[in-house]
Amino acid sequence: MHKNLTVINHPLINVKLGILRNKETPTWNYRLTMQDVARLMAYPLFLNLKTEMHNIETPLHEEMRVPYYAGYAPCLVSILRAGNGFLDGLIDMIPRASVGFVGMERDHETAEPIAYYCKLPSDMSQRQVYVVDPMLATGGSAIDSITKLKEEGAKDITFMCLVAAPEGVEALNKAHPDVNIITAALDRELNSNKYICPGLGDAGDRYYGT
Ligand code: PRP
Ligand code: URA
Repeated sequence: MHKNLTVINHPLINVKLGILRNKETPTWNYRLTMQDVARLMAYPLFLNLKTEMHNIETPLHEEMRVPYYAGYAPCLVSILRAGNGFLDGLIDMIPRASVGFVGMERDHETAEPIAYYCKLPSDMSQRQVYVVDPMLATGGSAIDSITKLKEEGAKDITFMCLVAAPEGVEALNKAHPDVNIITAALDRELNSNKYICPGLGDAGDRYYGT
């Protein structure tokens, strides 16, 4: 039993995840499906989004109080490269969001993450931060990215992936117990190359056709 973990179980998301897992799915369909899944996962991801009540008038001349985004714009952070596949769908759902990027690449021999880029909006301490990456394998990339975000002041952080390995969830929980994790699937295990099994392969390569 993992702490801070929500595994979404929704028929539409499950069907689309099956398409992403299928090795026969071509790049064009993989890309569209990944963006679709991201849009669907916006619903559970933003359940904690802060809103405040505003006065408006409807076309029937009735005054009404309605919710609107509160405070600073939320920040979506994509872990490059594969995170951008999630980002593309999510931005459609929340055009007000600011967007940050953390570049992380796993060393092919050791599976240790190597940071190569970081660009974040200002005032990270004031924002709700949503970090996205389709894969949580050893957890190294997510852990180092979130450590960097905290160094820049971020306090309210949620992490969303598509497929998580139990090893990654445990490591992320241990390193950042304050961060909630949302995933569409909790897979069985990592293999000896630190790939998620059954998984969906290399998410970035499949999204970009490399
Ligand atoms: C993949 C994936 C995650 C990371 C997960 O990125 O998108 O960022 O691996 O593995 P971890 O939990 O063991 O760190 P990759 O390093 O392959 O880079 P890419 O997105 O540029 O393909
Ligand atoms: N990164 C991926 O893209 N897939 C995995 O299974 C593990 C890390």
